[in-house]
Parts: sequence; structure tokens; C-alpha cells
Amino acid sequence: MVRIAVAGTGYVGLVAGVCFAEVGHQVTCVDIDENKVNVMRSGVSPIFEAGLEELMQKNYSAGRLNYTTDYQSAYRDADAIFIGVGTPEQPDGSANLSYIATVARQIAESVEKDCLVVVKSTVPVGTNDKVEQFIRDFLVNDVRVEVASNPEFLAQGSAVHDTLHADRIIIGTESKWAQEMLMQIYEPFHLPIVSVNRRSAEMIKYASNDFLALKISYMNDIANLCELVGADIQDVSRGMSFDERIGSKFLNAGIGYGGSCFPKDTKALEYIAKQHGYELKTVKAAIDVNEEQKKILYKKASKRLITLHGLKVAVLGLTFKPGTDDLREAASLENVPLLLEQGADIYAYDPVGAENFARIYPEGKHGRGSITYVDHIEHALDGANVCFIFTEWGEVKAITPEMYKKLMRTPLVYDGRNIHSVAQMQEAGVEYHSIGRKHTSKEGSKELKDNELQYS
Ligand code: UDX
Repeated sequence: MVRIAVAGTGYVGLVAGVCFAEVGHQVTCVDIDENKVNVMRSGVSPIFEAGLEELMQKNYSAGRLNYTTDYQSAYRDADAIFIGVGTPEQPDGSANLSYIATVARQIAESVEKDCLVVVKSTVPVGTNDKVEQFIRDFLVNDVRVEVASNPEFLAQGSAVHDTLHADRIIIGTESKWAQEMLMQIYEPFHLPIVSVNRRSAEMIKYASNDFLALKISYMNDIANLCELVGADIQDVSRGMSFDERIGSKFLNAGIGYGGSCFPKDTKALEYIAKQHGYELKTVKAAIDVNEEQKKILYKKASKRLITLHGLKVAVLGLTFKPGTDDLREAASLENVPLLLEQGADIYAYDPVGAENFARIYPEGKHGRGSITYVDHIEHALDGANVCFIFTEWGEVKAITPEMYKKLMRTPLVYDGRNIHSVAQMQEAGVEYHSIGRKHTSKEGSKELKDNELQYS
């Protein structure tokens, strides 16, 4: 058992802390927000994440997990302190390290015994060296403090599962002592451990995320070309996926990647490269393609319709992906303002993200348009002139073509996630536009000619 303190109770910190407790370590999670700490103590998770609340309650009751705002008492006698605070993107694309610096200073002023500080937050290459120096500069007591890198690869919506069953644990250390401490902490997880130096560990995180972002942008680029040449992106990606060198995951074309990692980490790595006088062309291309892709449905609809003014527009899904209430960099945030600007009357449905969205766009009039939040998909579709699908929630996937046909005033659907069958939509007489596939006409099973597939 290792005595662990975790700084920050966001996705990374809280999930890590809970999972460390789950495998038997003694964990204290630190946050500056008193309310949040009280909420967590009462067994409620501040984030929507499958299975997290159960593990919080179980480990809190077992006495292995605690929450506090009193960082001094948490850091004082910890064997290891994990830093999981945010590194938000700054306007120039660089990572804001002020939260890390604040925690580093608090650690320096609190620790009373030798301890390993482990940075889980995604930070520019070389940051761990600086954090170590910073802590040593401000150390109050004569103790040994070392910094290690241990990047996090969890995805939102499956964070607990991803942590307990990770593909690999990356540890970046500069001494045997630090390496052994991290090995001991991760031993009960029984997962492959890749032990490298600190800078390589920092780089592995960016290189992995940016590679996945690149993969998605590449598929989106190919999807757009598929539409123009009359190929089907789903058939194309299926055909590609049998090649083990390519792999079968992250080949889904859509309306671009969102979330808290890919957009931020692609821009951060591009910025790091620039700082070193190097142009990272591949990552820049991924960013550019993604920015265009997020607006692709809106562009298609604008070409098809004279105006959106006064039309009832159903918006299905607001979050950047299903299984989370997170809206960061979601395609909905790009499209809803454009639709409102054009005077659309939006009826938005999202099973968990609507409340957060309403904080940004409160229900009611917005210029020429308006937004109303509905609890049932049917209410969004009922009498609608157009439907946009931004997130592939299970209940959205379950809509049948006949429902669009029956409920909508004009069955015109723009699907950014390719969740429906083109053939079935065509059969049902729904005009259906998706990504990288043929579109159908509302005349039903009429086969479209290739030249009708072009939209730009
Ligand atoms: C991602 C990484 O997966 C994770 O390893 C890292 O630690 C943090 O960033 P997350 O942002 O939670 O996790 O979600 P993820 O499931 O990776 O999806 C990111 C975005 O890419 C979503 O908007 C999703 O819709 C999109 N995506 C994903 C695609 O458009 N196509 C795909 O094939 C896969």
C-alpha cells in the first residue's frame, strides 16, 4: 500500500485517485473547491462517468479514499503526489501551466518526507524538469523530492474502465527510486508498463493523441472525397480495417473530433514544434481538416435550403461524443450559433448535455432564431423541417427512418455520425445526408445519379 495524494479532481485526477484506492492504496484527493469536496464526500461524483460513483462510495466507506481542501495535511506525509490539474489551451495554442505551478509551490511548502511527485496532466516536453526544479527551489524541509511523468490515456465516458484496463502504463523517470515507486503503485493493476525517460513520456502522450486526431482527420478528408467520386466511406474504412498495420479503431468519419484532448493537444504540439523552429505539417493538416469538418453539415444544408429562417430545426446530440455531459469543442457549439444567426428555431435534445448547453445558450430567443430544450426526441422531430445529428447517442441511433418520415414536416436529415443506413432512409422516403456516403432523396427508392452527389 502506498500513501497517495492527488491534486485536482477533474477527469484525470478523480478517476486516477478512485482507481488507486480501488486497487488498495490509501488515497486523498485534494481540490480547492469546498463545495465539490463536500459533494464528493456525500458520495456524489462531480462528473458524469460510468461506474465512478459506485467506486467512490465503495472506497470512501472502506476508508481508502478521502477528499479535502487541506492540501498541507494531504501532501505532508504522502509517498507520492499525483498532479492531475488542467493545462488549458491559451489563445496561441500553448498550454497554460499556472495550475501546475500553483500545486508545485504548495507541494514544496508542505512535504515533510521524501516523496515522488507524478505529473499526470498533459504538459509540454521538458515541463517535468522545470516542475522538479521549481519544487526544489521552494522546498521548505530538507527532503528528497523527484518528479516523474505518467501521462493519462483515459477517454471520457469509459474513464474508469480505461484506467483499470489500460493498454499500457507509461512511466517517465530519471532515477531507479522513482521508477521503482511507480512500479509499486501500478503493480496491482497487472498492466504492461513502459518505462522511459521523462521527456519521452511527455512526448508519448502528445504523439499518441495527435496520431489519433490525424487518423480521424484523414478519414474525414477521404470521406469528403468519397462523396465526390461516388464511393462509400464506411465500405472504404471496413476494407482498410482488415490491414493490421492500419487497425480497425478510430476510422469513423464524421463531423470532426472534439473533447478536452485532441483539439488542445494537436495545437499544443504544433506550438511546441514552432517554438523549436520546426513546422509539424501533418498535425497542422489534422487541425485544418477538423476545423472545416465541424461545419460541413451546416454548409451542406445552406446549399440545399434557401433559408433556415423560421424553420423548425431538430438538433439531436450536443456533447462532443456519447457517454459524457462534456461540451468542450463539440461540433454543436460551432453549428448552433450559425443556425441561430440564420434565424432557425432550434429544438435540441441531449440526454445529459442539455443543461450545460443551456448555460451557454439559454432557452428562448437569440437574435432572429430561438432555442428550446426538449426531453424527448419525438418533441424535437415533431413538425420539424430539418434535423441535424451531432452526437451518436443510443436513443438517437434507435430512431427508425419511419419515425423521421412520420414526425417531421419535411423529412430532411443531416447526420454527422453516419448512424443510419442510407438504403433504409431511401426506402422510407427520407432525404438523408451523411458523411462520405450517397445522399438520398425524399422521393423514396429512386437511385441517385453520381453527379447528384456533389455538394460543393
Ligand atoms: C481522447 C483519447 O481517446 C484518450 O486516449 C485521451 O486520453 C484523451 O482524448 P476523449 O477525448 O475522451 O479521449 O474521446 P475519444 O473517444 O477519443 O473521442 C474524441 C473525439 O473524436 C470525439 O469527438 C469523437 O466523436 C471523435 N471520433 C473518435 C471520431 O470522429 N471518429 C472516430 O473514429 C473516433
